[in-house]
Amino acid sequence: MDTQADEKPFLRALKGETLSRPPFWLMRQAGRYLPEYREVRSQTKNFLEFCYNSDLAVEVTLQPLRRYNMDAAILFSDILVIPDALGQEVAFVEGRGPVLEPITSVSAIDGLSVGRIDEHLAPVFETLRRLSGEIPEQTALIGFAGAPWTVAVYMVEGRGGTDCGKARSWAYAAPDEFGKLIDLLVEATAHYLITQVKNGAEVVQLFDSWAGVLSESQFRQWVIAPTIEIVKRVKAECPAVPIIGFPRAAGKLYEDFVNETGVDGVSMDSGVPLAWARDTLQSRCTVQGNLDNQALMAGGEALDRETLEILKQLSGGPFIFNLGHGVLQFTPPEHVGRLAELIHGWPGTGGG
Ligand code: CP3
Repeated sequence: MDTQADEKPFLRALKGETLSRPPFWLMRQAGRYLPEYREVRSQTKNFLEFCYNSDLAVEVTLQPLRRYNMDAAILFSDILVIPDALGQEVAFVEGRGPVLEPITSVSAIDGLSVGRIDEHLAPVFETLRRLSGEIPEQTALIGFAGAPWTVAVYMVEGRGGTDCGKARSWAYAAPDEFGKLIDLLVEATAHYLITQVKNGAEVVQLFDSWAGVLSESQFRQWVIAPTIEIVKRVKAECPAVPIIGFPRAAGKLYEDFVNETGVDGVSMDSGVPLAWARDTLQSRCTVQGNLDNQALMAGGEALDRETLEILKQLSGGPFIFNLGHGVLQFTPPEHVGRLAELIHGWPGTGGG
């Protein structure tokens, strides 16, 4: 089917169209770098309660669009709402990030239940329904979930910032046991994403932030295989919805990820070489990325140079401009403004 000229640019790019000015959004575009986010955030102590408050979640989702006119809004929530909905204890501790009661046995896995998702995450679905009525006409709405491997890492380690050693060793020592957790997360994630689409998400992204710590065999088993299954299930219920995968820091394995999983788009970390991405990945799917979030933090000439290089290398094919990882907390908002200006002005800003 031909894409329509009046279709949202973000969706056109995900159908494989090359746009002269690529669409853009930023991972963590809503967040603490924005004073208006900190203002709203200060109304709730508990971060999960904040995610489950539709009034506040709708507001902070829209904040970055008002300033920078991104081509997509991403639902404001977190990947750890899934362990919370499954029945694991999850807390966000000021200054420490997420803390979970670690899952270390099959009996703990057996205590989790996919059946609670619809009720527990009802406020998230309400946020999506309201956003689909409120975002600008040309803006697309992105839903998301953590990929099973990355969510399992948090569930097993009980926190972030580790080398994922407990999860990796459990996966080697008892793949049948660890596989039970991954299977449960495949089921939960597919159901969660399908329900997001039914409530207004037009695209979904799977965040596999810890994909890069795995060996090749383990990457195939815990990243590629579960992603294949989730893509299959989501496409069976919602054939038209594009899916973006983000196997962060997967290196050369990005190629197999793209070839085998059936994703429509792939989000690339800043370590992926641009010419290789263009020649190897972009011929197979839409590529998204991959400005270094530290270049955005630094601003100035480095930001301009890095941004224009990415635009030059990747805007000749299906491409969505993004960062290689989320916006950092102390990023000056005016640097994001400069980035938006460079992209909105492209190709005029290219300078030839
Ligand atoms: O704007 C958006 O991108 C949408 C919202 C969003 C958040 N988290 C909000 C958030 C999205 C898509 C995420 C994804 C997420 N959450 C990932 C995958 C992407 C990545 O960054 O690798 C991961 C690993 C998490 C888990 C998580 N959530 C951690 C480790 C932390 C603590 C670290 C930190 O920055 O504080 C969070 C908290 C969180 N999620 C915040 C936001 C805006 C900050 C919390 C606050 O405002 O108090």
